[in-house]
Amino acid sequence: MRKDFLWGGATAANQCEGGWQADGRGMAIVDVLPQGENRLPVMQGVMDYRTLPEGTRYPGRDGIDLYGHYKQDIALFAEMGFRCYRFSFSWSRIFPTGEEAQPNEAGLKFYEDFIDELLRYGIEPIVTICHFDLPLHLVEKYGSWRSRAVIDAYLRYCEVIFRRFRNKVRYWITFNEINMLMHLPFMGAGIRFEAGENPLAVKYQAAHHELVASALATKLAHEINPDCQVGCMIAAGSVYPYSCRPEDVWESMQKDREAYFFIDVQARGAYPNYAKKLWEREGITVDVTEEDERILKANTADFIALSYYNSRCVRTDGQGEASGGNVFASAKNPYLTCSQWGWPIDPMGFRITLNALYDRYEKPLFVVENGLGAVDVLTPERTVEDDYRIDYLRTHIQAMMQAADEDGVDIMGYTPWGCIDLVSATTGEMSKRYGMIYVDQDNDGHGTGERIRKKSFYWYRDVIANNGENL
Ligand code: BG6
Repeated sequence: MRKDFLWGGATAANQCEGGWQADGRGMAIVDVLPQGENRLPVMQGVMDYRTLPEGTRYPGRDGIDLYGHYKQDIALFAEMGFRCYRFSFSWSRIFPTGEEAQPNEAGLKFYEDFIDELLRYGIEPIVTICHFDLPLHLVEKYGSWRSRAVIDAYLRYCEVIFRRFRNKVRYWITFNEINMLMHLPFMGAGIRFEAGENPLAVKYQAAHHELVASALATKLAHEINPDCQVGCMIAAGSVYPYSCRPEDVWESMQKDREAYFFIDVQARGAYPNYAKKLWEREGITVDVTEEDERILKANTADFIALSYYNSRCVRTDGQGEASGGNVFASAKNPYLTCSQWGWPIDPMGFRITLNALYDRYEKPLFVVENGLGAVDVLTPERTVEDDYRIDYLRTHIQAMMQAADEDGVDIMGYTPWGCIDLVSATTGEMSKRYGMIYVDQDNDGHGTGERIRKKSFYWYRDVIANNGENL
């Protein structure tokens, strides 16, 4: 393990910040993601949020009110010994529509105070610039990332935050789980499909614009502060063939490539041949200029951030059950147990995934999400005995340390997801909890909002204090 290994935790504005109308913040994608059965079709871009019924609740608008509690929450992170904290900025807090000539000073000041509070405790800020987040105005006016205009809006936002936080933020991540665009296009990138459109063509064009934006942001960040590091990020999880049947093996390779596609461009600087062939086969023309190609080539990522929750599995014989596991379709792997939400639990898959990414890219990896979503019960002593979460984290940290110490994978840090309970991205629920800090709030937003240390809080504090040596 690196001596300066960055132990910490991760959250994102869209799922915990709240304060959706505070200080002139503009509407963002997350503000129109509903609770309940309409959430999935809206996230997939096949249902228009403007057709949602009166009285719909939007849980992201209030989150867990990190906006109002951040000093208290950061104090708890410091008590756990965090060396870093990964969080995201809400773009529309800084540019309410994405198109203002001047940024919203109140929004910038909020993040400045927030970052100063982290630095006061010696916690390194890791900032995700765009975590499933976009001013809604850019969705309505331009159709979001399908338009090149959004690249300019993103870069204006980047320039403002890179300059303002030049001396305070050393690690930036351009887009959270950039490959999520292929699975949940509206949640991931504000893409809603129009009748008659070829969804795959729209997604690949939007992806191209995000990739160019990411490369240009990397360039800009380095110009403004040559010491900062800029990462790309993948929703990772190796895809296993269900059997040694060659068709299964081939299919698993195709599925891996769906995710690698993005990082191949961001880490290696060019579209892989398999992508060009796929576009040809699908009759898709992506508008990629020679200038774009030069930009992609010249501005690759400094590190590769990843989330890992589970491995995936494919079978091509049409038999067997499907498994849960993010939004990635997967066959049920008979060797693994699953979480209460049906997500497979596979610590060895974590080691496999880390090795696969490092073999392919040979760039430092940063694990910026990992964790177990589970129902927690508050005991009469007002704590949570979350041994299941400790087991999950312990086995995954062990696997990560094996990857580092036995396999030589260069890993910069580890920030488990939702270190404080927050709203689930895919389900909109509070009851799917990942935190080491319990938040007294239910699925309907009711509760005191009180923060309570779980058993895992004390366990993780010891892990950090011992640099992972006493698992
Ligand atoms: C990742 C996202 O996909 O998974 C997070 O980056 C998300 O935003 C996390 O919360 C866990 O997913 P969920 O649906 O359980 O919240």
